[in-house]
Amino acid sequence: MKGIILAAGKGTRLYPSTLVTSKLLLPVYDKPLLYYPLSTLMQANIREIMLITSPMDQEQYKALLGDGSSFGIDLSYEIQPSPKGIAEAFIIGRDFIGDDSCCLILGDNIFYGETLVSKLEKAQHNGAGATIFGYPVKDPKRFGIVEIDASGKAISLEEKPLHPKSNLCVTGLYFYDKKVCGYAESLTPSKRGELEITDINKLYLDAGQLSVNILDESCSWFDAGTADSMLEASVFVQKLEKNTGKLFGVPEAIAYEKGWIDRAILLRRAQEQQSSNYGKYLKDSAD
Ligand code: G1P
Repeated sequence: MKGIILAAGKGTRLYPSTLVTSKLLLPVYDKPLLYYPLSTLMQANIREIMLITSPMDQEQYKALLGDGSSFGIDLSYEIQPSPKGIAEAFIIGRDFIGDDSCCLILGDNIFYGETLVSKLEKAQHNGAGATIFGYPVKDPKRFGIVEIDASGKAISLEEKPLHPKSNLCVTGLYFYDKKVCGYAESLTPSKRGELEITDINKLYLDAGQLSVNILDESCSWFDAGTADSMLEASVFVQKLEKNTGKLFGVPEAIAYEKGWIDRAILLRRAQEQQSSNYGKYLKDSAD
């Protein structure tokens, strides 16, 4: 399975913080926002990952992550020339995905939960079709919304509905089988001029191949796209790390645990960042 992180948004809701730098390089508590979605893909055992960025930001991301070898992954980069919608990721990533299945995560989405890894594994082994993750929200008009029946089956999907039929947000984590690139090619832009991810999900729904996995109370989800949500996410991560004594969203530690990098690489990373808690945590993980 291939992984795509979509990091191409301009982050206009965070101006002026994002006038000259990319949103995903801004910190959520003690590390760049990007580390969280990257960690989620790695927790799902996805090692071939493409990062789609705006033309302006690509060099900064390359400087931070390189070819991915420090994280035990194979990282490639592509550009989305202008923000034409989330579903364009599957047109840009067509050759990369090839005949494989694919998981897409939005770069500003943070997922945490004890049951998350098992949910990710289940989605991956779901066979034909697509899996989306629902999360109850207070402001459903801001999101893609899924309506489900009593058995948990999806019945309708709407992007930013004026009259939401449920409060279940479709979060920015999607698992698709190999049909996804063909579906993306068949889309026409929405009223706001974008290829909508909700339209891809509707095609799977119409084909009877859309599974909805609800994230229960043990899980937390943040769409860190505004100053308020970035602060909320930062406070959440700070509390979590203080309570557990473990850092959350550390790609090097995940890679080491999975045996994707050796101790020497982990120690080098620790040494390079030794003045920060993050660096100290890497050192402790190696010991
Ligand atoms: C996008 C999707 C929406 C989804 C949301 C999750 O919205 O279009 O369906 O619920 O991400 O973060 P956007 O962030 O582009 O407003």
